[in-house]
Amino acid sequence: MKQIFGLIPAAGVGARMRADRPKQYLSLGSSTLLERSVQCLLADVRVARVFIVVAPEDCIAATLALPARCEILAAGGATRAESVRNGLRVVHGIAGRDDWILVHDAARPCLEPVELAALIDEGGLDEHGGLLATPLSDTVKREHQGRVAQTVERAGLWRAQTPQFFRIDTLRRALERSANATTATDEAAAVEMLGLHPRLIAGSPSNIKVTTAGDLRLAEAILKQQGRW
Ligand code: C5P
Repeated sequence: MKQIFGLIPAAGVGARMRADRPKQYLSLGSSTLLERSVQCLLADVRVARVFIVVAPEDCIAATLALPARCEILAAGGATRAESVRNGLRVVHGIAGRDDWILVHDAARPCLEPVELAALIDEGGLDEHGGLLATPLSDTVKREHQGRVAQTVERAGLWRAQTPQFFRIDTLRRALERSANATTATDEAAAVEMLGLHPRLIAGSPSNIKVTTAGDLRLAEAILKQQGRW
């Protein structure tokens, strides 16, 4: 039977947060964003182990109260894609041919078990893998010098979230091949460059990525409403 591993890139500095430490180490109640995001993945018993990729000079991760099924890899790179690629090289070395990987942002602490289960159930049946996403409901504008250049056709547009779920072999191949591409801002984009079409699995708008101080307050409200504060 296939094993499922988690990989959390947590080597960013979170400059847009303007905080005194990288945003993954900011507190949301009694836990940091990173600890909560790890717990989100381990909430599904099918996830065997979670690898956390931190910056080589990181000295905070080791001080956290992380569950036993976690391992810290000091393999972070200059970009998110590089951190994931470096982490995946390690995971690839210990994983079997048929094993799968869930890649999840350290900054998405509001992921609910039901969304993760849907991704594993539906994405895991698809050779191309899958990702959580939400259909766009706002009207979308393309900007040029502060003015509307164009209204973009909204039909068929989705906002990509994490986790994203792929066969380890497929994602490794995709990330090694896209190493010099600047356009791959998530794992799915790298997999798409192989000519594959990952499945879109409807997630929830509450699975936000915490980017600014305002997002921290929003995440607090969501976690309270979910009864997880
Ligand atoms: O900055 P942003 O919110 O887009 O980062 C998304 C995720 O990628 C975060 O978990 C962040 O720590 C991680 N990251 C990384 N290595 C980088 C940049 C970002 O692991 N060089």
